[in-house]
Amino acid sequence: MDDEHILVEPEVKQDVFEEAKDVLRMNDDGAYTVPAPGLYPHQWLWDSCFIAIGLRHVDIDRAKIEILSLLRGQWHNGMLPHMILAGKKKFHRDRDIWNSWTNAYSPDDVATSGITQPPVVAEAVVRIGEKLKKAERRSWYRQVFPALLAHHQWLYNERDPHSEGLVLLIHPWESGLDNTPPWMHELHEHQLAVWITIVKKLKAGWLINLFRRDTKLIPAEERLDPIEALAFYSTQRRLRRKGYDIDKILSHSLFAIEDLTFNCIFVRANQHLRDIAEFLKEELPLELLESMQKTEVALSQLWDPYSGQYYSRNFVTHNLLKEPTIAALMPLYAGTISKERADQLVRMLENQHIFGTAFPVPSAPLNSSWFAPHAYWQGPTWINTNWLIIDGLQRMGYKDHAEALRESTIEMVRNGGCHEYFSPIDGSPAGAANFSWTAALTIDLLKS
Ligand code: GLC
Repeated sequence: MDDEHILVEPEVKQDVFEEAKDVLRMNDDGAYTVPAPGLYPHQWLWDSCFIAIGLRHVDIDRAKIEILSLLRGQWHNGMLPHMILAGKKKFHRDRDIWNSWTNAYSPDDVATSGITQPPVVAEAVVRIGEKLKKAERRSWYRQVFPALLAHHQWLYNERDPHSEGLVLLIHPWESGLDNTPPWMHELHEHQLAVWITIVKKLKAGWLINLFRRDTKLIPAEERLDPIEALAFYSTQRRLRRKGYDIDKILSHSLFAIEDLTFNCIFVRANQHLRDIAEFLKEELPLELLESMQKTEVALSQLWDPYSGQYYSRNFVTHNLLKEPTIAALMPLYAGTISKERADQLVRMLENQHIFGTAFPVPSAPLNSSWFAPHAYWQGPTWINTNWLIIDGLQRMGYKDHAEALRESTIEMVRNGGCHEYFSPIDGSPAGAANFSWTAALTIDLLKS
């Protein structure tokens, strides 16, 4: 990290806080907050969790509502969908694209996607709980406990079919880090439909951009590459054709990944769920407790001793996907790794040729062949991953590193505004303006 970073003055922090509050107010759609106006008009799973973590400092009841409105999308089998689609007439196409009703477990009265996203809900529930007096906390936990339990059980029942302890994902959107290099590598290997390969060979990707909503709002080079966008779409259609039935989906595909970030977040979420249950004096099912234990142990299978870092893994072949990304640092957030390994990760964070840029932490390290400073999840710095790393550093005892990253994150937002992501080289903003989780997590970094 750069020594030149000046600590942000208190009055400036107040301005940043006010600006962030305005963004959340502007994006408030009543019971939930849209991630960004125009580009993201629905409710997203991990966005709402991060948003609630910020909102708790401003309006605790509204923070609770953000989570409760997420739970209205829960499927009868326990899945929390990655999107709850807005009911407005103009979004009927998005609802048709997903057609969640094709699966018998989907809720009757809300349209959702048919896949999930990282399980940050337990974190948000606990963060809200921290702000409540004991009795209020109890009733808050009581209110959400059944849904949380069902959510974690679903992750094991459906997404850990061999009881390995690691949860598998079936679409890059589930990872939350959409075009992150290891997923894109696998996509090109296993999931490109023939017609997309032809478009790729003909170099006709630019034509696709003419039909995209996102590239009308944001420069194309800051979003998914057109071939990847097509592949995301065709993968989603395949899942829909299979009625979002995991057995049918897995029976014919090599495209299933035990994602590192997701599983690290799950380890932490499991800890939170155990704490919530203890607070409520509830017993968690033994089978679930055993699975939770297994996940902590299984994380070590994702460690590669040769490069000294963790990776995601292909569910079918069990090959580690050795494309370095910000996920490498997420075991700090899981919080269950040894001090020795944590030290190794912190050294990567400090290294100026890896993650130690002027405006850390890049979503792909500088030494990755994929790295580009504004290319979505292939280089830019995002506030949610910074927040997770800061939290991990604090809990694992790297207080100074956590503090330095907190300050540089706030400074980046102060200079660039509440954008979706930033260049890790010069801090220049990119992606959507007025992005909700940037605002919310900045508030949390300012207030915690
Ligand atoms: C993009 C991000 C994802 C986020 C969504 C809504 O798809 O990659 O993580 O949840 O936008 O903000």
